[in-house]
Amino acid sequence: MFGSRGQVKTWQQIRDMERAGHIVAGMLGAVRAEIRAGVTTAELDAVAEDFLNQAGGLSNFKGYYGYPAVICASVNEEIVHGIPGGRVLEPGDIISIDGGCSVRGADGRRWHGDSAISAIVPPVPEDSEALSSVTETALWTAIAALADSRYLNAVGDAVESVVEAHPETPLDIVRDYVGHGIGTAMHEAPEVLNYRVRERGVRLKPGMVFAVEPMLTLGSAASHVLDDEWTVVTNDRSRACQWEHTVAILPDGVRVLTALDAGAAGLARFGLTPAEIPAT
Ligand code: MF3
Ligand code: CO
Repeated sequence: MFGSRGQVKTWQQIRDMERAGHIVAGMLGAVRAEIRAGVTTAELDAVAEDFLNQAGGLSNFKGYYGYPAVICASVNEEIVHGIPGGRVLEPGDIISIDGGCSVRGADGRRWHGDSAISAIVPPVPEDSEALSSVTETALWTAIAALADSRYLNAVGDAVESVVEAHPETPLDIVRDYVGHGIGTAMHEAPEVLNYRVRERGVRLKPGMVFAVEPMLTLGSAASHVLDDEWTVVTNDRSRACQWEHTVAILPDGVRVLTALDAGAAGLARFGLTPAEIPAT
């Protein structure tokens, strides 16, 4: 079923999406292992591209509206869509790496995965550590909320509640960019908001898959796009962070398709375990 309210996938299609998701997880892990002072973001992109080629995934970033790289590498005041290049990572930098790929499914169509991680180059500034850990907590709290709620806008409620629970850190939620449905395209309807709204949003159905991707900033989240037409930066140059996973709604809960453990570690603190994909 297609439409603005979210495409429902078959279990086989979700298994194919998990295959894409695990390649993305491996790619981000390979990039993470190379993050250190002195490395350029272009070098990180090359690591990602090599991994994808070896693993047999097709980048869904490269060529997307002309995007020139396999990952987005967004450093410090860059919120999202940072183009890899000559920028050299320095001690204390925070970097978000966003990447995705597609694989050919049993039905002959291409199925997509999309995920983002963040990392900090030592020595780790205390406020940046808080920024990253709260953003990651917001992601997992939102994923857990999808398991417990019947409506998509539980995501925004969860992200806002996590930010509110950390009044000691002056965090703002990025509203200019949102998560999305994902399937035979990287970006499908509906949008997945990271902030609270009055409406409950799309009613969740087993077989729906969403990319959940909260972005937080240490100052104001007001942003603009640089002259390269991609890189989004904070107006006040405050630091930003993003974490993202591709998450399937299943009959017995949620399954994180871009985590090699299906989300077991991240969901455990909520008393949840990853749902299984039904056999038929
Ligand atoms: N993966 C991003 C998202 O989370 C989109 C990247 S657009 C690209 O939705 F052009 F950089 F690939
Ligand atoms: Co995304």
